[in-house]
Order: sequence, then structure tokens, then C-alpha cells
Amino acid sequence: MHHQRHLFQLPDDVHYLNGAYMSPLMKSVEEAGIEGMQRKRNPSGIAPADFFEDSVTVRSCFAQIVKCRPEQIAIIPSVSYGLASAMRNLPVDIGQTAIVVGDEFPSDYYAVEAWCKDNDKRIQIVKAPEVTQQRGERWNQAILESINVDTAVLVLSSIHWTDGTIFDLRAIGQRCREVNARFIVDGTQSVGVMPIDVGAYNIDVLICAGYKWLLGPYSIGVAYYGGFFNEGSPIEEAWVNRSNARDFSALTLYTNEYTPGAGRYNAGEYGNFILVPMLAASLKQILEWDIVNINAYCRSLTQPLAAWLVGNGYTVEDDQARSPHIIGVGMPAALDMDKVVRQLQERKIYVSRRGKAIRVSAHVYNSQKDTDALVDALSALRKSL
Ligand SMILES: Cc1ncc(COP(=O)(O)O)c(C=O)c1O
Repeated sequence: MHHQRHLFQLPDDVHYLNGAYMSPLMKSVEEAGIEGMQRKRNPSGIAPADFFEDSVTVRSCFAQIVKCRPEQIAIIPSVSYGLASAMRNLPVDIGQTAIVVGDEFPSDYYAVEAWCKDNDKRIQIVKAPEVTQQRGERWNQAILESINVDTAVLVLSSIHWTDGTIFDLRAIGQRCREVNARFIVDGTQSVGVMPIDVGAYNIDVLICAGYKWLLGPYSIGVAYYGGFFNEGSPIEEAWVNRSNARDFSALTLYTNEYTPGAGRYNAGEYGNFILVPMLAASLKQILEWDIVNINAYCRSLTQPLAAWLVGNGYTVEDDQARSPHIIGVGMPAALDMDKVVRQLQERKIYVSRRGKAIRVSAHVYNSQKDTDALVDALSALRKSL
């Protein structure tokens, strides 16, 4: 795969290495949004089926990406919303402990904290080991060792959002299954770039925001709910989620039946005429590129970058535990972070600052020109010490 910058509209002199914060929009996705907005100029052209059809595309594309049936996918406005549906339907009569990792993304942490408080459960935080060698491997080991018959649920980001550390979802899911704990994964920072298989990894719920590695707009996401949740109770009673919703002439023939699978967990008004076609367009493009190729392309940019960083006084996670698209870069102790940020800004290099580290993230809109610009900047900073 070659870079795909021509499909985006990033200015030539911008080195945007910050997809983990928010992806740029493809031209095709922007056009789908504009078209969606324009449709409402004259609503006479909007038919009842239009409330549903693009969502069917989103569900079916996302189902292909995570390897499940489209009925098990719901459309949600945010990760916190998707998590709230999952947490309210957890059994409370199995384990007494809920596990999260250290410095987990706040939407995940707060959901677990609230569930524990409401149900008189204990939260257990598995922190990153304070080592530089084999840090990812040891962290995964500590997570596996923390799961036991007292575990009710483990809520985990598929990779760590601050530095891209890979969690071994297959092994963790297997362990959860052995002790009958539910396994909830926030896939926001990896789904779309790294392969995932909800069945093979025993994932009960997988939740993804759409605006990062799914290349969609803000305020729409997608979630997989496994069969365990099919009879659960949704947060709200949206008419669009009832089995008779497509027949607009008979909506007051009230029914207790929801649309099958995870249909009950769609947010009210989920068929957003602007956001849904945009996400449908980006997911179609991701499938066309193929995640295997996206993954390999990202790694072809980050691998040489990581090698340079290690050889020049910066620290990064070991190869096997580092995701292909996100690198946490530890700065030499003597480097002033404000100076780092200023230098990068001056050169129009966009990354995220995370304490004494920067988070660099790459996708198909990046090319070696961007990673070379970062190397030049970090090289100059080193020399200035
Ligand atoms: C791992 C992870 N989950 C979720 C989100 C977004 O959460 P929400 O949709 O609740 O705002 C982010 C945003 O940075 C993230 O990094």
C-alpha cells in the first residue's frame, strides 16, 4: 500500500501525526456529510426507509471489521453511552471485583467506578510496571494474573490509549471465559488498524468511537454486544428500536418487541442523516483498503521511526508490545517539554503531549515525509542539550 494523502485535504506543509486524537476527514466522507445535510433542504425526498438504510451499511461494514453478525451491532453517540448500556446489564451475582488497567481512558474508568459504587463491588487497578524492559509483556502478565473467580468484569482498551501498548486480547478473553467474567473492550484506539475478532477473543462487548481510526465524524460510534446482552434493558426506549419501527403508519400499535440482537442499544435518533452516511463512507473505504494493508503500511512508517528513537536517546515500547500506529515516545530527562512542544509546533508537526512523553500516531494520510520531519525536529532537540 502507498500513502493515501490525495484522498484527504491536509495542507502540504502539515505533518499530522495525531490520529489517536482525531483523524482528518477524507474528501469522500466530507461529501457524504454535505449531501446528508442538503437532503433536509427539501424533506419531501426523505422516505421512512432512509431512517434506516445507511445504518444497515454501517452495521454490516463494522460487523465485517470485527467479525460478527450485523444484528449484534448498535449505533451509539459515544463510548460512554455504549458502556452505560453494557454496565447496566452486567450480572451482579457473580464476582465481587471489576478490573481496569492503570491510566485507563476516563469514559471507561468512570463507568466501572460507578458500577462498583452502585453494586457494592471493588475496583482493582492493574498499573503499568515501572520498568523500561519488557514493560508490555509484564503488564499483560499482571492483567492475566489479576483475573480470578472473584472477577465480575474486566473493562479494557484494546491498546493503551496513551502509548499504544498492545494488550493480548485473545489470552485475556480466554482467561475471562475460564472464570466466567464478562470481557468489555474499548476498541477506539485500534479497531480499523489492527485486526480483531470478537468471537475468537471471547469479547462480550466491543465499543468504538468513530472519529479516530474508523476515520468518521465526531459524535457517532459503533458497538458490538454479544448474545449475552440480547435480552438486556436499554438506557432509553427509542421507538426506532422496536420491531414495528419501519412501518410509519402503525407506530402506535405499540409492541414490546425490540429489533433483534443488539438493536435495543441503538441511541434514539441513531439514523442521523449527516453522521451515518459519513461513517458508512469511511468504513467502506477501510474495508476496501483492507486492515491487513493499513496495519502493514502504518508499521512501515513507525518501525524505522522507533529504531531511530531508540538509537538516539528516546524510549519506546518493545517491538512486540507496540501497536503499528501509535508510539509513546519517552523524552530524555534533560529535555524541557515546553521546548519540545514549541519546536514541533513551529515545524507544523502535530502529536499529543502526555506528561514527559509524546504520543505519535500515523495512518495512511502520512508518509515518510512526516516521520522524517519528526526525526529532524527531535534530532535538533537532542543536539541542543
Ligand atoms: C480509548 C478511548 N476511548 C474512548 C474515547 C472517547 O470516549 P467518548 O466517546 O466517551 O468521549 C477516547 C478518546 O480519546 C479514547 O482514547
